[in-house]
Amino acid sequence: MTDISTLIEFESVSKRFPDGTRALDDVSLSVPSGSAFGVIGRSGAGKSTLLRLINGLERPSDGEVRVGGTALSGLDEAGFQTLRRRVGMIFQSFGLLTARTVADNVALPLELAGVAQAAREDRVTELLERVGLSDKAGAHPSRLSGGQRQRVGIARALATRPDILLCDEATSALDPETTRSVLTLLGELNRELGLTIVLITHEMSVVRAVCDRVAVLDHGRLVETGPVEAVFDAASHEATLRLLGEPAT
Ligand SMILES: Nc1ncnc2c1ncn2[C@@H]1O[C@H](COP(=O)(O)OP(=O)(O)OP(=O)(O)O)[C@@H](O)[C@H]1O
Ligand SMILES: [Mg+2]
Repeated sequence: MTDISTLIEFESVSKRFPDGTRALDDVSLSVPSGSAFGVIGRSGAGKSTLLRLINGLERPSDGEVRVGGTALSGLDEAGFQTLRRRVGMIFQSFGLLTARTVADNVALPLELAGVAQAAREDRVTELLERVGLSDKAGAHPSRLSGGQRQRVGIARALATRPDILLCDEATSALDPETTRSVLTLLGELNRELGLTIVLITHEMSVVRAVCDRVAVLDHGRLVETGPVEAVFDAASHEATLRLLGEPAT
């Protein structure tokens, strides 16, 4: 069902890779606009594949992905470029360019979008302020802590004012305190900017702290989805119980 509040919709989506791996199997789900949506599941369950289908880095073998009501199967290359400006992504490995300063990393998507230099500089200043890194504008990423690199990644992902932010394991390489501060930032962005966040994590405490909804994947299948409290408190699937560290009954 598509309604006005559904921003991302998967309709019977399957993804098979050429080697025969079935990464996703008949997944249907919807992500409401403005939600913080957690995706959990053991390694290899299909989480990253699901995320990459949202910005067109992967294409479904079957089914349809819709973003803002637009079917991605109907997009041409220019359409995908526009989509990727609406959908920011941050990666576990940070993905920063080491030869560029913090400010120049954040400016990169604006350069690619053809934004004029003066406007770029204003936007970069604003973004670095937002993520608390104004004093690091001229530094190179190698001089930053993991948490600071993560913030640069977030600032860069937000540069083109996306309405969706995809986070793949954004916090797992960080210590607990840094993780909390990055998550607090994501939570603020979700609330203050109305940014819709889809967040892959292995930490159930992250889901409870940041997410309002969650989807559980197991061997490429969606086994549970809904509001976090509802899914966790009434977890019935063995995969969910295992992730929660509770014995299956
Ligand atoms: N390009 C690819 N070619 C072939 N198989 C792939 C490809 N990308 C992913 N897979 C396979 O698809 C399945 C799902 O992978 P995916 O990366 O989505 O898992 P994941 O849930 O993100 O795992 P992790 O928690 O370890 O990151 C795995 O079996 C993986 O080996
Ligand atoms: Mg992954």
